[in-house]
Amino acid sequence: MILVTGATGTVGRQVVEQLVAADQPVRAAVRDPDHASMPDGVELVPGDLSDPVGLAPHLDGVDAVFLLWPFPAVDLVRKLGGPLEWTHLRPTGFAKNTLMWADQIRAGDVVRWPYPDAARSLIHERDIAAGAVQALIRDELIGKMPVISGPEAITQADQVAAIGTAIGRELRYEDMPRDEATAELMAMFGNADFARTALDTWAGFVTEPEIVTTAVAQITGEPARRFRDWAVEHADDFR
Ligand SMILES: NC(=O)c1ccc[n+]([C@@H]2O[C@H](COP(=O)([O-])OP(=O)(O)OC[C@H]3O[C@@H](n4cnc5c(N)ncnc54)[C@H](OP(=O)(O)O)[C@@H]3O)[C@@H](O)[C@H]2O)c1
Repeated sequence: MILVTGATGTVGRQVVEQLVAADQPVRAAVRDPDHASMPDGVELVPGDLSDPVGLAPHLDGVDAVFLLWPFPAVDLVRKLGGPLEWTHLRPTGFAKNTLMWADQIRAGDVVRWPYPDAARSLIHERDIAAGAVQALIRDELIGKMPVISGPEAITQADQVAAIGTAIGRELRYEDMPRDEATAELMAMFGNADFARTALDTWAGFVTEPEIVTTAVAQITGEPARRFRDWAVEHADDFR
């Protein structure tokens, strides 16, 4: 039995679907079981990562846990105690981060954003999940911390162009001054530290593109999906 946390999320939902496809019994812990739909056969239980005690009974009969890694998860692992075997998958930027441009793209052909030349090795959520499934059902990754990435680092300007191709429109990237971008990120996330860290990270990726690894292919046996394919699959999210 595999317990999946974050099962309603982008990655967790994929983990559940891929485990079911691999005939693995799955128990999904979600904060609101009344509003979560899961594939047939998946056991649904209530669970909040900030309440490890409440989660404990759902560990009965569980062989492995997919643990999303917001900060409370660290606590959970400590409270579970015992000599746990673990794998820590470390993904690069998520392809879905580009959905932050969806409103602008729906409104017109220009995406205003800072650092057009920042290059990220965006990873498809299905590849993150595929790596997690291998970690959950096989032993080879025990104790490892692989950095999993997309197959190439592509600039933000090229990401926008790929989304344009996917939706059949010519989109233009317009550089946004850092001050304006800070205000924009503050409006989106309301967190000054996050805004500064995000902008510093993008600035760094202008001079040194984000790391590209072959870990997805090594772990799953399939090459990592390209961003342009993710954009085609998600075209409707930008329309
Ligand atoms: N490196 C990157 O570029 C990048 C980008 C995006 C995300 N991330 C990180 O990657 C992880 C997974 O991302 P994602 O895209 O799958 O996230 P997501 O779609 O936002 O889903 C988050 C999931 O976590 C669950 N959750 C949140 N707080 C919880 C809590 N206290 N207890 C139990 N469940 C809780 C949510 O459940 P509910 O349905 O109950 O809300 C949801 O299922 C997140 O930790 C996120 O911070 C990284």
